Amino acid sequence: MSIHNSNRIKLGTTHKWLSYLIWLIVAISGVIFTFRQDYQMLDPSDFSVNVLKIHGLFAAAALIVFGSLIGTHIHSAWQRKRNVVTGVLILSMFSIMSLSGYALYYSPEEWHETAKWTHIISGILTILVLPTHIAIGRFLQRRRIQLHRKH
Ligand code: HEM
Ligand code: HEM
Repeated sequence: MSIHNSNRIKLGTTHKWLSYLIWLIVAISGVIFTFRQDYQMLDPSDFSVNVLKIHGLFAAAALIVFGSLIGTHIHSAWQRKRNVVTGVLILSMFSIMSLSGYALYYSPEEWHETAKWTHIISGILTILVLPTHIAIGRFLQRRRIQLHRKH
């Protein structure tokens, strides 16, 4: 069966690697900032401020990546009911990260701690679940191809 490009679940090479790179920068900068400010409890330094500036910039890019997956990857996988469990988990986590990221800027001061921890926990969960999602998705796809060849 030939599948039209826009119906493909698999990402193109550039799309895939650009998405990985942007996500890695968001995740690493988020973890470094958490480690320094909330674990080591250091006073804010120029380094931490720059890490947060990088985080904010690449967070915006990560939302573009997210948007680029909705009409293609997510829509096609959803229609074919493939890899839905971890897929929906990541979808929820991305939504929570975006809303709590917004709340860090614009919510009342007394919500800040809740917004921050909601943001950090959903971020760490995504860091753990995304590789799982990709590994399961690839495994299921390989198995489907093998089954197809046998028949
Ligand atoms: C923000 C949400 C999501 C992100 C960032 C994401 C990201 C990814 C990435 C990077 C891959 C590896 C692609 C490749 O190797 O070409 C993948 C694989 C996969 N994902 Fe997602 N995904 C998301 C949501 C979903 C949802 C909601 C579903 C299902 C309804 C889904 C189903 C799949 C499937 C079936 C694969 C295996 C593709 C294959 O190898 O053929 N994904 N996902
Ligand atoms: C799509 C994913 C993400 C988006 C859209 C996003 C967005 C944002 C935004 C808008 C801010 C506020 C920046 C500022 O105060 O200048 C922020 C701060 C922060 N983010 Fe993210 N982020 C994402 C992923 C993550 C991840 C994966 C982590 C890792 C744990 C993380 C950890 C943090 C931390 C620690 C802060 C600073 C919180 C504070 O003390 O105010 N973020 N993020």
